[in-house]
Amino acid sequence: MTDTDYHNIRTTALAPPTGCPFDPSFTPLAGDYVADPYPILERLREEQPVVYAEPLGFVVVTRMADVEEVFLNPDVFSSANVQDPVFPICGEAAAILAADDFNPVAVMSNRQEPDHGRIRQYTKKGFSNRRTRTLEPYIRRRTSELIDEMLVGTPPTDFISALAYPLPGEVVFRFMGFPESDDQQLKDWCANRLAFSWGQPTAEEQVEIAENMLAYWRYVREFTAAKRQAPGDDFASELLADHAANPDDLSYREVESILYGLSFAGHEPVTLLLGNALITLLSRRDEWEELCSNPDLLAGALDEVLRWNSPQIGWRRITTRDTTLGDVSIPKGTQVFLSLGAANRDPREFPEADTFDLHRADARNNISFGKGNHYCLGAKFARFEVRIVLEVLAERLPSISLVDGQATDPFPNISFRGPSSLMVTWDQ
Ligand code: HEM
Repeated sequence: MTDTDYHNIRTTALAPPTGCPFDPSFTPLAGDYVADPYPILERLREEQPVVYAEPLGFVVVTRMADVEEVFLNPDVFSSANVQDPVFPICGEAAAILAADDFNPVAVMSNRQEPDHGRIRQYTKKGFSNRRTRTLEPYIRRRTSELIDEMLVGTPPTDFISALAYPLPGEVVFRFMGFPESDDQQLKDWCANRLAFSWGQPTAEEQVEIAENMLAYWRYVREFTAAKRQAPGDDFASELLADHAANPDDLSYREVESILYGLSFAGHEPVTLLLGNALITLLSRRDEWEELCSNPDLLAGALDEVLRWNSPQIGWRRITTRDTTLGDVSIPKGTQVFLSLGAANRDPREFPEADTFDLHRADARNNISFGKGNHYCLGAKFARFEVRIVLEVLAERLPSISLVDGQATDPFPNISFRGPSSLMVTWDQ
């Protein structure tokens, strides 16, 4: 096995590919895209479904069939770049991450075969239905407690800071085995990771994020060492037991790196999904009331939210050789931007794709969790967690509603989308 760094830090830009059709304007960081990406994605999907977007520096792919083809051909479209900062990083931040002891390795989303499959057999085991279900009482209790805290105050309240932000971090930290007493510190360290890998932070912000990443990595290393001495019933201990039983197959550094990676994967997209679920469902009062009286519809409703208002609307690949997609030639070494948002609204795949339909039979065919060998390991976990939160909310606070006319301001970045704040009110 050959280890590769978890983040590939570049301080210079890549050269554009030759031979692809060219779009001079598309970038997911533009204000009109951040506010509402779907009309812009529709234009690309219908007019130039595979096109090199100059301001982004990526070939952009917008039709479902093409996105699936990329996901299903990992030898040609490598996931090696998915955790790298999109834009070059300043020297000062790069220097922080060049510390001798900052050495997480690529293990899951950005690791290539055959090592990825070797590691995934252990992580998949750790994400068993049994372990996920053991979290149910905790998720229910914490959701109720956070609702209680919300109800003590006077409405309106920001649902993101009251519940959607704190809860998913706490749930994944319990899953991994981190102690509750470290929650606040952990959240502070992980809070701005999204900006580092998928946004365009200022040099000053990059330095702060790099310091947080280094601090979090050091914490993970100390935590893993302590768990080795005193194991518990948690994901970290299970991985350490696998390492002890198969030290040549799952290395200790790989165990540390898996835990490092979950700091982001395990909670930020769940926060965004909770926000998007509330925006979508509460602005359709009849549908919300239908869900409150028939919670069995929640699982299907969530699939439709994942399709129609996905928390993850973009992901990346890089070509390992010259290839073609559709009838477009793409040279080796080209960065590819997969528009999951555009594919989820592709009318070739979903009839009336722009319409949100609570009862849509094929909503589960959405691509928000990816496809193929890197298919999201936490998909069941995320669905389970968000369904429970919505169930508790529907039961305890059916009168919850959105404050009219508010700005929800998604954070500008190329991959993730959801409200930064969401003011809600309720009958008192
Ligand atoms: C709504 C929430 C979530 C969304 C939309 C989401 C989406 C995704 C996507 C698109 C991928 C990449 C697929 C690919 O490259 O082919 C991925 C991978 C991954 N996700 Fe999630 N995710 C979510 C929640 C979670 C949670 C809660 C966890 C863990 C607790 C998690 C863990 C992972 C891991 C470990 C991978 C890498 C899998 C691999 O490479 O084998 N995700 N996710």
